[in-house]
Amino acid sequence: MHPLPQVPRGTHDLFEEESLAGLRAIQRGAMDLFRAAGYQEIETPMFESVDLFKRAVGEGSDIVNKEMYLFAENPAEPGKDILCLRPEGTAPVVRAYLQRHEHMKRPISRWCYSEPMFRRERPQAGRLRQFNQVGVECFGGKSAHYDAEVIALAVAVARLAGDFPIQVLINNLGDPGDESRAAYLEHLRTYIDGQSGFCPDCRVRREKNVLRVFDCKVPQCQDLLKQAPQLADHVSGEAREHHETVLGLLKDLNIPAKTSPGLVRGLDFYSRTVFEVVAPEATGAQAGTLVGGGRYDTLVNDLGGPAVPALGFAAGVERLLMAGQAAAAKKADISLLPLGEAARRKAHVLAASWRAEGFSVQVLFEEKSLKKALAWASKEGGPLAAILGENELSAGEVVLKNLETHTQEQTPFEQAAAWIRRQKDV
Ligand code: HAM
Repeated sequence: MHPLPQVPRGTHDLFEEESLAGLRAIQRGAMDLFRAAGYQEIETPMFESVDLFKRAVGEGSDIVNKEMYLFAENPAEPGKDILCLRPEGTAPVVRAYLQRHEHMKRPISRWCYSEPMFRRERPQAGRLRQFNQVGVECFGGKSAHYDAEVIALAVAVARLAGDFPIQVLINNLGDPGDESRAAYLEHLRTYIDGQSGFCPDCRVRREKNVLRVFDCKVPQCQDLLKQAPQLADHVSGEAREHHETVLGLLKDLNIPAKTSPGLVRGLDFYSRTVFEVVAPEATGAQAGTLVGGGRYDTLVNDLGGPAVPALGFAAGVERLLMAGQAAAAKKADISLLPLGEAARRKAHVLAASWRAEGFSVQVLFEEKSLKKALAWASKEGGPLAAILGENELSAGEVVLKNLETHTQEQTPFEQAAAWIRRQKDV
């Protein structure tokens, strides 16, 4: 008997009753957001000439170097006309932009897409070999307003997946031709040469594309990089001003962005703004990076077109779905267990005040013994419980228990939220 055929490694069958419905909802939601901002849909072929990605994404990048699915146009001529499955969406969209002389038609072109991508990566949680991206590419916009528009859209897409904490990480890579950037790269090489602790891969990166050292996952390299010269301190005045304006606009939009000097991103085409939207509470290698994007002001020109500034981002739909599901499965920060009717009345007020502090609170309104109430909290909630008996109620206090560490203390109502925060921060 032949073994049963299996789905290829790093890929999944998707079923409507399981994750497919959620996936499609995010794709539709994202495309609606994009259209509402004036972006029009584009679909490019699932395969392209490998040379396009070599030129755009860069031969030093992992995507081109290790992760392409390659095949010859004609199997009888294996070395000729090599095609690859599309690993990312920016290069094909730039190719389409150039091919139809789009820059002659309108000053600003805004395009969006919802497409599968293919990368031969080592499969892990949130890292697939076929995955879906939704994204935008905007051509012709030089000012910081476009950066803010694109980042705001990226945040809105991440919010489609659920109500979980997200963060925007942002960095300024300056302009490729900039003298100060060239001087910085030399600075960084000198710093690496002066340290013996960098791993062999970082030595190779030093030669091929030195900025990539910031992507190294080796803890010792990460430590050494904390002391390394920072690109953001060396970029030209114009690029710095651009960055400051982007940060100001994000502030106006109430989008908290954290400048992250080590964020360089794994594709070679970026200049000035690079950003990621991450879910800090997600677990799994890279699973928390939901969106990646940035400016690529020289790429259109590098691929043979006019000097048109451009920028965009792509979000991983499976990663968004995972982050949303994890958040939905998350148990309440604290279970509040009032004992007796007077305590149950007070519980509404206490729970509301803790929720206002940003905690999720579930209240047990059933009449149960303390033992049964604690058993319910262990089963249905996280590790924290608050007991409000008659004595505590008359003292204006609550008993706070950590069911995992078996510690407890009695605290005035006003200090309970600070206790919850301390326990969560451990
Ligand atoms: P990227 O950072 O390579 O950027 O990918 C964007 C997003 O796609 C990631 O943040 C992640 O959510 C998802 N993703 C990437 N690889 C995988 C994988 N193996 N499995 C599951 N999800 C994955 C780009 O692709 C650029 N084209 C983005 C861009 C557009 N920059 C400017 N315009």
